[in-house]
Amino acid sequence: MEIKITKTTSPKVKPKKGEKLGFGHIFTDHMFVMDYTEGQGWHDARIVPYGNIPLAPSAMVFHYGQEMFEGLKAYRGDDDKIYLFRPDMNAKRANNSNQRLCIPEIPEDIFVDAIKAVVDVDRDWVPSDEGTSLYIRPFVIATDEFLGVAPSKTYLFIIVLSPSGAYYESGLAPVGIWIEDEYVRAVRGGMGFAKTGGNYAASLIAQVKAHDSGYSQVLWLDGVERKYIEEVGAMNIMFKISGKVITPALNGSILPGITRNSIIHVCKEWGYEVEERKISVEELVAAAKDGSLEEVWGTGTAAVVSPVGKLRYMDDVMTIGDGGIGELTQKLYDELTGIQWGKREDPYGWRVEVK
Ligand code: PLP
Ligand code: COI
Repeated sequence: MEIKITKTTSPKVKPKKGEKLGFGHIFTDHMFVMDYTEGQGWHDARIVPYGNIPLAPSAMVFHYGQEMFEGLKAYRGDDDKIYLFRPDMNAKRANNSNQRLCIPEIPEDIFVDAIKAVVDVDRDWVPSDEGTSLYIRPFVIATDEFLGVAPSKTYLFIIVLSPSGAYYESGLAPVGIWIEDEYVRAVRGGMGFAKTGGNYAASLIAQVKAHDSGYSQVLWLDGVERKYIEEVGAMNIMFKISGKVITPALNGSILPGITRNSIIHVCKEWGYEVEERKISVEELVAAAKDGSLEEVWGTGTAAVVSPVGKLRYMDDVMTIGDGGIGELTQKLYDELTGIQWGKREDPYGWRVEVK
């Protein structure tokens, strides 16, 4: 694929070393853009200065939410090399989302090459402070000027980049999680497995409720029986119960996390028994009460491996272990981040250098 590159003539001031980045507030100098037109396919791949995009107010994405997005990171190693983590998995998941949303597929090699190209142009923006990275947000939006409910015939594929620190303000400190018993996020047959804005719009009301009660994230229950654990707003969830690692099975209504897949792999390599199955909230509360619930953590690109110190379900508030970071949680965090930042061996071949 040929990518036309137009560099900015007015580069922005980059965050200084040691400056607090937060998550998703700062954007780099450039972005990748590519058009889709029915009959022509994807065309005009280009890297241009980061900036606003002209869109008609009637553009379909504004009305019926036909869009998909992805999330991954670029990491700066001590050797100053820039690494991606399993970008091929994001390319595959993007197309699963695209398929569900009637958005044309993006060839996997083009998806990954586009990411590498724009990260390469903005490689000086990849931060170097401990725990920081360049968050990469590829997305596709429907752009037809049309108010009928139908798949658009034109789209834009864009990639923006954001130097970021920890997703949660608390960093690696354990988070408190609210198990939501009123609202649901997704149902099987819906689009819970796809990464698309509507799923996140549906989650906001419970997120606000949880925040107002002093919790940082929502843990969703299944949309039919409101009984089985699904996932958290921006991460998958895992439990260590009586020495076993247990996580909800991929059932169509939860996002197949790339971090989830990687952590399951590492746990199995380390000899842990891993069960991907239905887990009811009653089972969880019972395990918390009888002391067999040893650790809880979330997994996600933005959230990395995030310890959960407290869970609330209706009138039960459960403190996990001593409320601190569990031993396995810490080991998994160290292993995953070690591979991502190039500090550890990568026996799985997950790290991809941006050259
Ligand atoms: N679940 C949801 C709802 C998410 O938004 C994310 C973040 O991408 C995840 C799970 C974790 O997925 P991944 O590990 O691929 O980032
Ligand atoms: C990610 O971890 O990449 C995500 O997309 C989470 C996001 C909703 C902030």
